Amino acid sequence: MEASTPSAEVMARVRAALTGVELTDEDAARERFSRDESGCEGVAPQLVVFARSEDDVCRVLRVANAERVPVTPVGARTGKSGGSVPAAGGIALSLEKLTRVVEIVPDELRVVVEPGVLLADVYAAAEAHGLWYPPDPNSWPTCTVGGTIAENAGGPVALKYGVTRDYVLGLRWVLPTGEPLTVGRRTSKGVAGYDLVSLFVGSEGTLGVCTQATLRLVPKPRGVATGLVGFVDTAAACRAVSAVLGAGLLPRCLELLDDVALAAIAGQGLPLPSGAGAVLIVETDGHSTESAFEQLLRVEAVVRGAGALDVVAAQDESQRERIWAVRRSVSPALRRLSPQKISEDVVVPRSRIPEAVARFKALGAAVGLTVATYGHVGDGNLHTNVLFAPHQRALVDTLLGQLMAVTVELGGTITGEHGVGLAKKQYLSLEQAPLLVTLQRQLQGLFDPAGVMNPGKIFPAE
Ligand code: LAC
Ligand code: ZN
Repeated sequence: MEASTPSAEVMARVRAALTGVELTDEDAARERFSRDESGCEGVAPQLVVFARSEDDVCRVLRVANAERVPVTPVGARTGKSGGSVPAAGGIALSLEKLTRVVEIVPDELRVVVEPGVLLADVYAAAEAHGLWYPPDPNSWPTCTVGGTIAENAGGPVALKYGVTRDYVLGLRWVLPTGEPLTVGRRTSKGVAGYDLVSLFVGSEGTLGVCTQATLRLVPKPRGVATGLVGFVDTAAACRAVSAVLGAGLLPRCLELLDDVALAAIAGQGLPLPSGAGAVLIVETDGHSTESAFEQLLRVEAVVRGAGALDVVAAQDESQRERIWAVRRSVSPALRRLSPQKISEDVVVPRSRIPEAVARFKALGAAVGLTVATYGHVGDGNLHTNVLFAPHQRALVDTLLGQLMAVTVELGGTITGEHGVGLAKKQYLSLEQAPLLVTLQRQLQGLFDPAGVMNPGKIFPAE
């Protein structure tokens, strides 16, 4: 049984037991910690605790167990699925003040950080040694390592470099019962025992709290080349993606914008190919600028053969920046068209992308809602956005149910990088058999017998 919203009396006892720990129950803080970037509605936490040490985390969880109080771990609240939005009040446990880069060992390609460290600071620490930490959910200046671990964040370079899970070697982890332990390793290889690191990464705050992470680094590519390619439509762009990957080329990014996304950013002075009904942003990298450009030229030859209308390669950093501005402008532009929007992150097999994009758009049109699609097309990972007015919420839920059903029907998955959280738990059973859901709930119960750890997430109500 998951813990439910505690009474004021219980919370008073919790406060008393946490003397010396930084905490607040001010309305402004409670309100701030009841939201992330998903727009999901939860129940505001009754107490916000700012951990300053692993011991603080242990104390919070021990008290929460004794009193059966829900605890929601929180990073920077940049998540897109409500993972850090408390579903049943209780304690919001902020890790944002654990900001130490504990050690960097360049010749072992390893950095150890606390969970509140911003990805930007991991980059800076790595860069000082010519190294790089590739995972980035497009929010590196603001998101924390802990949040990206909880959600197993992906992002544009996942195509070549993989996702957060591929870079976490080991963790200091506090179990939901309040006991700290070390899992994983610091060596690059290691197969002793079950892979609990992989289980904990992406567990969306339901299996415990990260207090330190040992991350794998790679040599920073010395050269990067970026191109913008126009196509007559999304189907043509997707055929080009298959042609590129089929030719044995592996750019680090292949990002799509469909016609609706393009229309949303028109007139902003961005370098858009004229007459294009879809574009791809292609980025290659290598050990030198020449090798990155050489790869981009090979990609160009393949996409031209696959029907590209136009290919523009950035010649310098400012042109590169302008191409990425095209991608970054989409979400704000859609929000200007419609302050209410939902951004999905479904994944379908690459060969089914044109069909998925067309069917999503048609499903939207059938109920009078605009659907725009953009995102990490090289991974088949689509940010399908539904625009709506406040009174259309019920319609949107119907449409989202249809989108998820089509995704699964096409052999895809309901979330590629944002997590299930609160946003998608009602769709999980479209994709996962009852036995699989039950098995995961049993696992959760093994780690968290009192049901205090981020209750109400991932799994549909029983
Ligand atoms: C992106 C995030 C939102 O790709 O997933 O922009
Ligand atoms: Zn994304």
